[in-house]
Amino acid sequence: MKILRNISLKQYNTFGIDVIAKQFVEIASPEELKQIIALYPDCFIIGGGSNMLLTKPIEKLVVKLNLKGIEETPCKTADNTVYVSALAGENWHDFVLWCISKNYGGLENLSLIPGSVGACPIQNIGAYGVEVKDSITKVEVLEVATSKIVSLTNADCQFGYRNSIFKSPLKDKYIILKVTFKLTTKQHQLHLDYGAVKLELGGLSSPSLSQISDAIIKIRASKLPNPKDIGNSGSFFKNPIISQKHFYKLLKSHPNMPFYKMEENLIKIPAGWLIEQCGLKGKRFGDAGVHNKQALVLVNYGKATGKDILKLAQLIQNSVKSAFKIDLQTEVNIFS
Ligand code: EPU
Repeated sequence: MKILRNISLKQYNTFGIDVIAKQFVEIASPEELKQIIALYPDCFIIGGGSNMLLTKPIEKLVVKLNLKGIEETPCKTADNTVYVSALAGENWHDFVLWCISKNYGGLENLSLIPGSVGACPIQNIGAYGVEVKDSITKVEVLEVATSKIVSLTNADCQFGYRNSIFKSPLKDKYIILKVTFKLTTKQHQLHLDYGAVKLELGGLSSPSLSQISDAIIKIRASKLPNPKDIGNSGSFFKNPIISQKHFYKLLKSHPNMPFYKMEENLIKIPAGWLIEQCGLKGKRFGDAGVHNKQALVLVNYGKATGKDILKLAQLIQNSVKSAFKIDLQTEVNIFS
């Protein structure tokens, strides 16, 4: 374990923002993490760096988690079920592909989401009709205050749409070490309702897990930029949820507005659509831009700073607010 000085974090965040970490250390085991936390309880943890916007140099010690390993335990009570635990530093997509290679079902719709296993519960990643909370049974964390390893159940995590206890109120109290998933070994429950997925599968009635994964990869690759080519953090904003009253008012002037009905008379509106209606899709301000195929994604064409992206995000929020009276909330964690 060696603490390095003045390291650029460009390669450690998928936005590719070039900020300096005054001190930086990579750790490869929970024991090393415990030692570091004891010395630097106020450190700044980085996993896959896929859901953050860095806007200034980091004064705290930056700790890059490299905990790797996957283990599986058959379920004693159900012969079509397996429990798979993955350490936080495993790459999410590689982990999904590993599950598919073993014919373990549950995560295939979440293929090609950037980031690490440790980040997946924080914002309860979701795509194409599936959220990771549907499969998570346990999250093992290091409690910063006590340096103890604590096991949280699915209910403890208080998962919601792009939300969990790890965003608030327990932000920074826990460091995620390991996530356990309950997956199926046969009689998989497939989620194929999403229009684009159905279309891509071309009417296959019982596709294999890898056929579903391939279809999702194709859909995502066709509209979401690959962070290896263009810096981005996936959806920058959450899809806003509005009241029925507000919805019907908007529908009068925008009869083609897409929407999803939620519980308790609430309606979710795709933020990408709202941003597109404001004429901002594909717009570029220097090296900060709105992706031209999915307006929900902000991109760094090369040399954008975190502040450039933040300025663009604020312009979008102001435009959507004045056109639709809707407040867009960021999905990405902003460090400013
Ligand atoms: N739309 C537009 N213009 C755009 C983008 C979208 O009009 O520029 C419209 C589409 O036509 C469609 C609707 O908005 O009617 C929904 O679009 P899409 O299916 O692309 O999904 P989304 O709601 O924009 C969410 C997730 C994505 C996830 C997709 C697919 C959030 C914040 N985002 O996007 O997640 O991949 O659904 O399930 O919920 C991520 O979180 O990083 C992410 C990419």
